[in-house]
Order: sequence, then structure tokens, then C-alpha cells
Amino acid sequence: MHDDALSIPVDATAAAALAAGGLRMTVVDPADAAATRAWAHAIARGFHDPAPTEEFLAELAGDFPGQRTIGIHDDGLIEPELPVATVASWPAALTVPGGEVTAWAISDVTVAPTHRRRGIARAMLESELRVATLAGLPLAMLTVSEATIYTRYGFGAATWSTDYSVDVRRAGWVGQEAPGRIQLVGRAAAIATGETLFEESRRATVGDVQIVGHRFGRLFGAPSEPDEQRKLRFARYEDEHGTARGLATYRLIELANDFTGFTVELKQLVATTDDAYRALWRFLLELDLVSTVTAGLRPIDEPLRWLVRDPRMIRTTEVREHLWLRVLDPVAAFAARSYAGGGRLGFRVADPLGYAGGAFTITADADGTAAVEAGEPEEGPLLELPVDLLGSLYLGGASAVALAAAGRLTERSPGDAALADRLLRPATAPVLTTWF
Ligand SMILES: CC(C)(COP(=O)(O)OP(=O)(O)OC[C@H]1O[C@@H](n2cnc3c(N)ncnc32)[C@H](O)[C@@H]1OP(=O)(O)O)[C@@H](O)C(=O)NCCC(=O)NCCS
Repeated sequence: MHDDALSIPVDATAAAALAAGGLRMTVVDPADAAATRAWAHAIARGFHDPAPTEEFLAELAGDFPGQRTIGIHDDGLIEPELPVATVASWPAALTVPGGEVTAWAISDVTVAPTHRRRGIARAMLESELRVATLAGLPLAMLTVSEATIYTRYGFGAATWSTDYSVDVRRAGWVGQEAPGRIQLVGRAAAIATGETLFEESRRATVGDVQIVGHRFGRLFGAPSEPDEQRKLRFARYEDEHGTARGLATYRLIELANDFTGFTVELKQLVATTDDAYRALWRFLLELDLVSTVTAGLRPIDEPLRWLVRDPRMIRTTEVREHLWLRVLDPVAAFAARSYAGGGRLGFRVADPLGYAGGAFTITADADGTAAVEAGEPEEGPLLELPVDLLGSLYLGGASAVALAAAGRLTERSPGDAALADRLLRPATAPVLTTWF
């Protein structure tokens, strides 16, 4: 195991594969301003963003010390210092049932349009899995721009989120009154309030990932986008004792020539109590001059629909997978979580990349604690599945019963998938509420 994951040197296997194609893999030194700037230009290009401004470059500079940053260079180009491919990664806490586990977060995967489809992404992703294993981490995780890319590396969709649009004039509030109060605060006060609240909420939300440093600050509007930042409003809920329990970040979008038809775009809502949750939603739904509230990356089982008179006025505009997980060490990963009941369940896993292949068994007690060991039970419930689906089941976000019905996993006996769902699925659906 490597104590300092961020200082793990270039992966020799990937570097050799890339060198055979005339490419050079480097770990970017966070202190090398020219290299970090070039890398930032490359990710902007990769995601079809405009060339970065000085402000954006300055802002991004804060990310580098907290991540392992990889650039792939083609020294035959006119501008060889600009990477033709990028990836960044770091260890981050992922909330699991009953606790949390440190997982390898992977982000900023880009390949220049001139260098696509020659195996660069594969070399980078396989290198990330080796590095995560070297760092002793049982899981890797990422969020994706396309859902077709990462299964081949063993990642499975693990949480789902919903986007919706609320017709606030017809929805009608029927929720209970909350005893505290709401005040609007500025960005600095919102960040100060948010730091503890976000972390408390994250620890209570299976599927949520810890966001620190500059990435956390950007949840409150990126400093490099001052116009966007100025549009944000922050509503803080404090309980009857004056303690902050929730924060809503939103912006108002004006409908042309209609001063009574603003749309509220909810950027983020954290609430550490049910009172705070209800109070902030009521506040948003009852804002004057507003006709619509939109929200994204919300849990699929959000209580909001039970707080309005007409739940049809909450129109789902999107449901999609968000967090993707790659199990690297099944025994360590499944030992790090708790279970929703007692029972014994074996898994037989196929992993072409060789990390998680083989069998393991979970023996859970009624109190939710479990022993997890390598090897399969001689008899009794057992699921056979590919490693990406093990990632999908890990947090209980996907239904084993649905996967069995779809023919994507095999039960040893009918009812094994139902047992898996009983053990694995937490009381509320797992959700990742941010991007990373
Ligand atoms: C997606 C991207 C990273 C792929 O990079 P690449 O170097 O061309 O990929 P590779 O040549 O290593 O291909 C690896 C595999 O992925 C497949 N693949 C590549 N891009 C894909 C895409 N957009 N959708 C589906 N499959 C894709 C390839 O067919 C290949 O499959 P195989 O290994 O089964 O034969 C690159 O096209 C890119 O940078 N896109 C824009 C940014 C982006 O979308 N990043 C992803 C952020 S989540």
C-alpha cells in the first residue's frame, strides 16, 4: 500500500503502452505553473469549453495540490507542452450504509479530438485502477458525460438522480410549519454556514462524496464567473435555537417581458433536519413573482411530492444515473458498509481486468454488521454477475431483482436476488448531489 496516493509516480505499464504510440505520460507537478496552465487549457478544449480566462486558471491552480494530475503529451506537435489527454484523481470519502469508505475519485478525462480512438483513454483508465489499488483503495468512482464509456473498465452505474420542474402556482403547499426562520445571506456567509452543513448532510446521504477545497467553493459560484456568481442567492434555515440546519442556493431567471414569471433554478439544497428541508422548499415554492422552480441531481425518492397538494405539478424532466463505481477489492468494499438485515449471500464475479474476479460471501447479522470473506458458500443464495454490476449493487442503488429479470445476473436459486435487495438497499435511495 502507498501512504501518499497523490505522489504515486507514473504508471509504467500505461506509460510503455503510450510510448509505443509516440506519446509521453507525465504526472503534472502542482508547483509547475506552466504545466498546470497547459493542462487546464487541455481540459477546457476536451470538454468543448472556451479557452480558459486568467481568472479560471488562477482558480483551477487551487485544485492541483489536492489531486494526482496526469497529462499525455505528443512531442511531435507544434505545441508539445499542451497535453493531448488529461485525467485527475484523488482519494475522497464516499458515504456508504453505516459509514464511509475512501474511494479513488477520477475526473477530467479528456482526449484531444486529434488523438481519439487510439487507446489513450483505455491506457489512462487502466492506469487509474492500478494506482487506486496501489493506494490500497477498494473502489474507484467517477461521474460521466456519456453512459457508454466506462462499463468496459468495470464501472457500473450506482446512483440515480432526478431533475424536475415544479409549477409553483398550482402545486400548493400542504406541509407542516417549521419552527425556525429563514434569512438570506451573502456568499461568504453561505460558505461559512455551508461547510459544516454540507459535510453533515454528506455523511448522512448514502452515495454522496466529500467535496473539499476549491471544488467546494465552486458550489457557491465560481469566482472566475463573476456574472454567474452575482446571480446566486443563498437562503439559510436556522432552527428555533438559531442553529443553521439548511441552506438553499438558487438563482432567478427572468422570462422575457414577464416580471411575474421568474423561474427559480435550485442549484443545491442541503438540509440536516426535516424541518429545514420543509422550510426551504416552502420558501422556494412560495417566492413571489415566480412561476416555476427547477431542480437537478435530486434524490429519486424526494419527500417533496408529499408536501404539495398537487404532486402532478412536480414534473420529472430527467432520471439518470450519476455516480459510477468500480469495485477493486470486493471483500474490503463490502466489509466497509452495513446491511439492512441478516442473511448470507455469495457473489461470483467476473472481472476481465482481474481485480475483483472470484467469489466472496457476506454473512450479515440482524443488526446490520457483517463478516465478508473470500470464497463462495457451498449452498444457499448466490449471485453470479460481471464486476460493473457489482458496482451498481454496492450502495443498493440498483435492484438485483430488476437485474435478474433483465437477465443481467444469474441467481443460484429463485429468490436470491430478492435477498440481495433486502440486505443491500438502504432506507432511502442513494444519491450523489454534486459533480466531482
Ligand atoms: C471519451 C474519450 C475520453 C475517449 O477517449 P479515446 O482515447 O478516444 O478512447 P480509446 O481510444 O481509449 O477507446 C477506448 C474504448 O472506448 C470506446 N469509446 C471511446 N469513446 C467513446 C464514446 N464517446 N462512447 C462510447 N465508447 C467510446 C472505444 O471504442 C474503445 O472501445 P474498446 O476498448 O471496447 O475497443 C474521448 O473521446 C473524449 O475526450 N471525449 C470528450 C470528453 C469526454 O467526454 N470525456 C469523458 C468525461 S466523463
